[in-house]
Amino acid sequence: MDQKIKTVLDDAKSKIESAKVVKDLEQIYIEIFGRNGLVTNLTKQIKDIKPQDRASFGQSVNSAKKEIEEYLEKKRSSLIVSRPSTPIDITAPGKKQQIGHLHLVSQAMEEIAGIFKKLGYSLQSYPEVDWDWYAFESLNMPKNHPARDDWETFFIKGDPPAGGKSYLGNLVLTPHTSNGQVREMERVKEPASPKAASRGGPPIRMINIARCYRRQIDVSHTPMFHQFEGLFIDKNVSIADLKGTFDYFTSHFFGPKRVTRLRPHHFRFTEPSFEVDVTCGVCLGKGCRICKSGWLELGGAGMVHPKVLKAGGIDPQKYNGFAFGWGIERTIAMKTELPDIRLLYQNDLRFLEQF
Ligand code: PHE
Repeated sequence: MDQKIKTVLDDAKSKIESAKVVKDLEQIYIEIFGRNGLVTNLTKQIKDIKPQDRASFGQSVNSAKKEIEEYLEKKRSSLIVSRPSTPIDITAPGKKQQIGHLHLVSQAMEEIAGIFKKLGYSLQSYPEVDWDWYAFESLNMPKNHPARDDWETFFIKGDPPAGGKSYLGNLVLTPHTSNGQVREMERVKEPASPKAASRGGPPIRMINIARCYRRQIDVSHTPMFHQFEGLFIDKNVSIADLKGTFDYFTSHFFGPKRVTRLRPHHFRFTEPSFEVDVTCGVCLGKGCRICKSGWLELGGAGMVHPKVLKAGGIDPQKYNGFAFGWGIERTIAMKTELPDIRLLYQNDLRFLEQF
C-alpha cells in the first residue's frame, strides 16, 4: 500500500479512537470525509499519479475508505453500548414539558363570546359554506344586485338543490357571518327541543362566530378570516340599545376608556345602517399618528331590515332589532396594535409565543 494512503489510514483511525461520545464522531467524520477531509484530499490526488499506477492507487484508496468507514461504525456502536455507568438520580427534577396556549384568534373568540354571554346572548354556530339564499338573497340582496360586489365572494360550481328548494341557489364560501341571521330566526321558530317549542319566536340574542372568505389579501385582509355576528330581536328595540351594547362590548374588550361612535352607512339588510368606530387606544380619540382621526373602524351594524325579518318568518309589525358583524382579526389588531394581520396565520412561534 502506498505510504500516503497508509498515513491517512492511521491518522483517521487515531482520530476515531479519540472520540469520547457519539457526538464527537460527527466532527471527526467531517475531518475525514468532508470537503477538505483526509480521504477526500487523497482522492483528489489520484489524477496526479502515473497512469500505469493509477488503477492500483485508486483501488487502495477505496479499500482504505472502506476500512475507515467500518472502523467508524464499530466505534459508534461501542460508544452507544458503553454509556457512563453513573446510576440514575431519581430525585433529579424532571424535564419540563413545553406547554402551548390557544391561538390568539381562539383566545379572542372565547373572550368575545364571554362578554356577550353576560348580556344574555347565546353562541350559535352556522355554516361556513352556505346557500346563496342565506348569504345574500334573504338579506335583501337579489341575484345580480350590485351591492353583492362588496363581498368579493368565492362561489362554488354546482346546481341548486332540487325538491322545491331551488330558491336556495348555489353554494358560496360565506363572505360574512350574516348568513346566520335568517338561520337563527328559523331556529327560534322551529326549535329542536320540545322545551324550547313553547317559545316559537323572538326574543333572539345570538352570537355567531365563524370563518369567512373573501378574495382579498393585504396588511389588513386575509382570504380566510373570522367574524362575529350579533343579532338582537325583540319588541321595541331602539338604536340606543344598539349603542349601549357596543359601548358595553368595547369597554370590556378594549378597556374602560374606549367608547364607540356610529357613522351613517348603507347595507341592504339593515335600515338605518352604521359603521361602528372605536376610540384609538393610543390617543383615546384626540387623534394621533397611528389613527389620524382618533377613531378606528370596527365593523358594520344596523337595525334589521323588515324584509330580512320577513325572510326569517318574523312579523316586522311586532318585532324589530339590530345586528352587527365585526372581524375578529381586526379587533385583535386594534387591541394589540398589530401592524399586519397576516402575521396571525404564519404560525411563527416567535410571534405566537408573545401572547
Ligand atoms: N355583514 C356585514 C359585513 O360583512 C356587517 C354587518 C352585519 C352589517 C350585520 C350590518 C349588520 O360587512
